[in-house]
Amino acid sequence: MSPLSITRNLPADATAAALRADVAQGLSATPKQLPPKWFYDARGSDLFEEITTLPDYYPTRAEREILLTRADHIAAATNARTLIELGSGSSDKTRHLIGALSGLHTYVPVDVSESALTAAGEALLAGHPGLTVHALVADFQQGMALPETPGPRLLAFLGGTIGNLLPEERAAFLTSVHDLLSPGDALLLGTDLVKDEATLVAAYDDPQGVTAAFNKNVLQVINRELDGDFDPADFDHVALWNAAEEWIEMRLRARRDMTVKIPGVDLAVPFAAGEDIRTEISAKFRQEGVRAELAAARLELTNWWTDSAGRFALSLAFRA
Ligand code: SAH
Ligand code: TRP
Repeated sequence: MSPLSITRNLPADATAAALRADVAQGLSATPKQLPPKWFYDARGSDLFEEITTLPDYYPTRAEREILLTRADHIAAATNARTLIELGSGSSDKTRHLIGALSGLHTYVPVDVSESALTAAGEALLAGHPGLTVHALVADFQQGMALPETPGPRLLAFLGGTIGNLLPEERAAFLTSVHDLLSPGDALLLGTDLVKDEATLVAAYDDPQGVTAAFNKNVLQVINRELDGDFDPADFDHVALWNAAEEWIEMRLRARRDMTVKIPGVDLAVPFAAGEDIRTEISAKFRQEGVRAELAAARLELTNWWTDSAGRFALSLAFRA
C-alpha cells in the first residue's frame, strides 16, 4: 500500500442522497435550517482556511499555541502509535502533535472534504516520509469504520468543531468516540471558551467578509448539486451571541420576499424579507461543562490546558 491511501466510508450517491434529505427537510421546516457539514466543498474548505488567518478569528492561533507548548506532554502521556483526527481539514496544527509523537505509526485524518484530505495528506507526507497516512472520507456523526491500526490510539478533535454540534448531538458523538476507543486510549479535544460578546461576534463576522462568503457558500453548494437558483446577494450573513445557550448562531437572512426554486428536491421555498436560515451554531464552553460531558460518555478528563490569554482550551481525556 502507498503511504497515502484514501478510503470513502460513504459512497458518493449516499452523500448526494443525504444532501437532498437535509435540504428538503431543513428548508421546509420552521425556522429554516441547514446542517453545517455542507459548507465544506472544495471552495468551502479553502474559505475556512482563509478564516483561520483572519485577525479576529483567534481560535486557530490560540489552539496552535497550546499544541506547541503541550505536544511533548501529550506524547508522553499517550504513547500513541495511531493518531486519528476527526474533521481534520488542512491538518495544519496537527503537525506539531505528529512531530512530537515519536512512536507514531499511522495517521488517520477523517473529513467530509475529500479535497482537504488529499491536500493535507500530501503536505504531511512531504515532512514525514516514514508515516502511513490512511485518510477517510466520512461523516463523524454517522459511525465510522476505522482501519485496523496499532494502539495505543489518540483521537483528536480540534478547532472547536465539537461546538458546531447541538448538546444532544454532542452527547451521542462523545459516546461514539468512547466506543471507538479501547481502555487506555485517549481523546484530545479542542473547545473555544465563553468570553465577552464583542470578541466572540467579531470572530464570526469579520470586516473582510470572509466568514460571510463562507456562510453563503452553502447556497452555492445547493445551486450546484440540486440546480437551485439562490442568489447569494439576496442574503445577509448574521452572527449573533445567544447568551442563554452560550453559543454563536450563524444565519443567512433574506433581504427581500422571494421564492427560491430547488428542482433537485422538487421544492419552491418561500422567503419573507428578514427571514433567517440557521446555518450553524458554535458553542462556547467552560471547564466544568466539558468535564461533565466527557464523564457522561465515560471519558475521564486528566488535563485541561488553555492558551496564555485563556481564550481556548485543549482537554486530554482517557477511556477508563
Ligand atoms: N480541524 C481543523 C478544521 C476545522 S473546520 C482546524 O482545527 O482548523 C471543521 C472541519 O470538519 C472541516 O474540515 C469540515 O470539512 C469537517 N467536517 C464538518 N462536519 C463534518 C462531519 N459531519 N464529518 C466529518 N467531517 C466534518
Ligand atoms: N469550528 C469552527 C468554529 O466554530 C467553524 C467555523 C468558523 C464556522 N467560522 C465559521 C462555521 C463561520 C460557520 C461559519 O469556530
